[in-house]
Amino acid sequence: MSTVTQQIDITPVTPPDVPAISALAREIWQASYPGIITQEQIDFMLEQRYGHERLYDDLEDADKWLDQAFVGDRRIGFAFSEIYKGEFKLDKLYIHPDMQRQGVGGALIAHVAERAKKLGYPCVILAVNKRNEKAIGSYRKYGFAVREAIVDDIGGGFVMDDYVMEKKL
Ligand SMILES: CC(C)(COP(=O)(O)OP(=O)(O)OC[C@H]1O[C@@H](n2cnc3c(N)ncnc32)[C@H](O)[C@@H]1OP(=O)(O)O)[C@@H](O)C(=O)NCCC(=O)NCCS
Repeated sequence: MSTVTQQIDITPVTPPDVPAISALAREIWQASYPGIITQEQIDFMLEQRYGHERLYDDLEDADKWLDQAFVGDRRIGFAFSEIYKGEFKLDKLYIHPDMQRQGVGGALIAHVAERAKKLGYPCVILAVNKRNEKAIGSYRKYGFAVREAIVDDIGGGFVMDDYVMEKKL
């Protein structure tokens, strides 16, 4: 892989960032998920997870952390993490298509893993679509292994057909 030559800056998402994060999510999802899930499911999940009100609520939640990555002035990705059922979960990790495979995802995973470690958690978990081979490859590279397969009803007639992966700290 190549690496980003400029420095990657990771900062917390704040309320004024919400519209840009929501728009970036749509751009990345549209580039990533057709062929993995239907357009109807993409639209449903974007509204459910990246609607502005939902993101403002997430920012107020003491058990959630929203991090964003910049190269210079350009916002190129984000990682959301949270305490989920007593475990530390990397809930979202998205890098702009033209900045993928340059180490940005790895930098955000390291940032989130450091937080989990400081808080005393033994591992970081995540859920990834079973057909998302690029992401699964990336997670393996950074030390995650599959723990279990799950099918989760997310409403609207849709399910998430995922692997739960775990990285020991
Ligand atoms: C998955 C993702 C977060 C990884 O972030 P990234 O910055 O691209 O990853 P890194 O550069 O740190 O790591 C690269 C590794 O990811 C995997 N990978 C990333 N893009 C890939 C591609 N197009 N083809 C094959 N493998 C790929 C490889 O294992 C790669 O390692 P290598 O380059 O040494 O072979 C990013 O590609 C992304 O946002 N993808 C689309 C959205 C998505 O699927 N998010 C995860 C949802 S659970």
